Amino acid sequence: MTDVKASDPSNVTGYRSFELGSFKFKRDEYFVNITWKTKDGEITHYMSADVFLRALMRDVAWNFFYLQINFDTVFGTNNLYGTVEMFAGSYNEAYTEAGLNLTETFETPEILATFKAMLDDWTNAGFDPFAAPEETGTAWLGRKNGNNRTAINRERQVCKRMVGLNGDTPQRTDENGHPVNRAFEDVPQDEPEVHAEAGFESEIGAINLFAYLSRSDVTWNPSISSICKSSLCCPTTEEYSLPIKHGNDRVEWFLQLSDEIKWEVEDLETGKPRAKVIMKPGDVAAMPADIRHQGFSAKRAMLMVWENTNPDIVEMHSSGKLNPWPVDF
Ligand code: PHB
Ligand code: FE
Repeated sequence: MTDVKASDPSNVTGYRSFELGSFKFKRDEYFVNITWKTKDGEITHYMSADVFLRALMRDVAWNFFYLQINFDTVFGTNNLYGTVEMFAGSYNEAYTEAGLNLTETFETPEILATFKAMLDDWTNAGFDPFAAPEETGTAWLGRKNGNNRTAINRERQVCKRMVGLNGDTPQRTDENGHPVNRAFEDVPQDEPEVHAEAGFESEIGAINLFAYLSRSDVTWNPSISSICKSSLCCPTTEEYSLPIKHGNDRVEWFLQLSDEIKWEVEDLETGKPRAKVIMKPGDVAAMPADIRHQGFSAKRAMLMVWENTNPDIVEMHSSGKLNPWPVDF
């Protein structure tokens, strides 16, 4: 059992405050305050509570993801796969040059328990951190008002082999709570015909991936729709902005399936701008292993994220055996 250091609810706002290592977390009507110790005394960083909760939701649901989740330009986590570093200012040149940054390391269950407790206490009824802002509104703000455990405890959809196969993650339907999203009413819902040779019925399958994605009820939350060894197809639907800046320890590929997403690409260590990428349907891009990136999508868009889960690849990049880019032309 992992202890969570939480205060009693505030008499004024109703929210609890939390501590982890030498970091302190407090939320009020609009903001989350993150306080840490520096050589010059304590420093406090402010984030809008909705921005913080959207990032926290992903950090928790993705079990700290591949390497780095930046909540913004200051605060975030590094997944070391067993332990997690929590940092403030450590990947921001202004903070590191002034010596005002702090990184502390925790066992994964310890930081996860604190993050889950914070997410649970600070998410009000009616606010879904995975939903597009237009679909969840402003219930995040104000004093404490109930909770939204159904939304924050949603299981990420992860298939064993492929969506739609016998015994695997089912297709999304009206009946299982996945109506077509308002942005994708024009997406055809017909399914491919599969004629398997007798005896191979469980070995072959096909789905209409566009129909599957048109029924996603979340944004910026890749589900895993097919797996082959270390190769993961993680399609997702995107609206508004990716609530984190993701700093990677491997290459990942993006295939734009519909609409348009703009990406900002920055240096992993310093956050200095590196590139802007505008992706239109059919465009393919590889995000290098030494950057952080954030996406922006004015209209809900479909994106295929292609991930490599091979754990050996981290060392191959950090030792320089592999270039941070995947191909030379
Ligand atoms: C990413 O960091 O690469 C990422 C995360 C979530 C998404 C899309 C891309 O929905
Ligand atoms: Fe990424």
